[in-house]
Amino acid sequence: MASHEGKPIRVALLGCGTVGTEVVRLLTDQAADLTARVGAPVEVTGIAVRRPNKHRDVPAELLTTDAAALVASDDVDVVVEVIGGIEPARTLLLAALRAGKSVVTANKALLAEHSAELFEASDASGADLYFEAAVAGAIPLLRPLRESLAGDRITRVMGIVNGTTNFILSGMDSTGASYAETLEEATRLGYAEADPTADVDGFDAASKAAILASLAFHSRVTAADVHREGIAAVSAADIAAAKALGRTVKLLAICERVTTEGAEGISVRVHPAMIPTSHPLASVHGAFNAVFVEADAAGEMMFYGQGAGGAPTASAVLGDLVAVARNRVHRGRGPRESAYAALPVRPMGQTPTRYHISLDVADRAGVLSQVAAVFAEHDVSIAAVRQEGRVDDASLVIVTHAATDAALRSTVDKIGGLPVVREVVSVMRVEGEET
Ligand code: NDP
Ligand code: HSE
Repeated sequence: MASHEGKPIRVALLGCGTVGTEVVRLLTDQAADLTARVGAPVEVTGIAVRRPNKHRDVPAELLTTDAAALVASDDVDVVVEVIGGIEPARTLLLAALRAGKSVVTANKALLAEHSAELFEASDASGADLYFEAAVAGAIPLLRPLRESLAGDRITRVMGIVNGTTNFILSGMDSTGASYAETLEEATRLGYAEADPTADVDGFDAASKAAILASLAFHSRVTAADVHREGIAAVSAADIAAAKALGRTVKLLAICERVTTEGAEGISVRVHPAMIPTSHPLASVHGAFNAVFVEADAAGEMMFYGQGAGGAPTASAVLGDLVAVARNRVHRGRGPRESAYAALPVRPMGQTPTRYHISLDVADRAGVLSQVAAVFAEHDVSIAAVRQEGRVDDASLVIVTHAATDAALRSTVDKIGGLPVVREVVSVMRVEGEET
């Protein structure tokens, strides 16, 4: 890798949409400060886009549709990728890294599938690979996991990493409206995209969970390893059931160490869960993100802020750009992939979880004992029971202690088939409490 003492750091920007436009704006507005911080001027030498004639607030002479030629150009030291998706981003970034060009990317989908290949290319040439913006937008989170906590043992990372779903769940909680009504409102206000699948079905959060787990546990985790459930099945009844017990519903990305039959592994999952309203994540509303990290020596930490949007995401991209530019100026090197621990990802069925189960049951003698017998049969311990009689039936709410998710699923299936159970009103996992 060449030294750049005094010479400008030349940047190829791939993509100039929501995030890319803000990257150009910040680079222009803060040019003098960035030069001082890096030790050399940072100059954009080209911007690759799909539609060069689309109006955008960047110098027209920098635009090109030939992203591959831009990446290959001798006038480029650093490639910043804000196109998104797998291809052509993957091919372009591999070419950049193999040519010894530093890479900054915000592309969670790419990293959650192809980080091994990208890190291998980065290692082979010694070029930096930074991706702070890929998880939780503006929030400094990946650098703390990769660097600040590198001397500690992280046990758990649990967070709200998707703003769209948090906006919808917060809306359902405050208005009592249904999922469909609240999604419609989120789309109307521009919080949810026209096709909200990636967000509401948990794909976006699963990519982010894979990246978080890889960094936290020094293991390779891909999006395919992540157990994923979205929020489309969350009902107004689920939200009401949570509220009645001082809890709130959030879509959580959870990455944790689990020990199964004496062997250590990790559980990586995205699903809706009830958390106590006293938990720090419960007060994260609207489109904000927050991530709660637990480590042996450091204890509990929370990272909070804007998880999306052009300017907040560009802030994280610029932070990475300054880091890789400094490394080039001073012949330094950023952190490499750390996957030495190679912990296996356990299937969801083996993961210890807790359930909140709300039932409508017949109100007569022996009902509770029949229900309790099913829990005992599956070796699931009950933590709390609340029963309220109504005119001709009763509401029964049961919260369990931790058991394997497979045992809890079988318990619910069997209870749903009992003649005394009229309806399984709500079933949801409980997080953020003592087991
Ligand atoms: P946009 O869709 O707004 O922008 C994508 C840009 O890529 C556009 O400028 C588009 O060109 C360009 N592009 C698309 N295909 C090609 C191609 N084949 N060759 C060259 N250029 C191409 O995306 P965002 O800015 O919202 O997101 C960019 C990345 O940042 C994604 O990885 C996303 O996940 C990530 N991210 C985004 C956040 C956000 O809030 N938006 C938050 C955190 C991360 P044209 O303009 O001509 O169509
Ligand atoms: N669609 C994402 C969200 C954007 O709603 O949080 C940031 O990845």
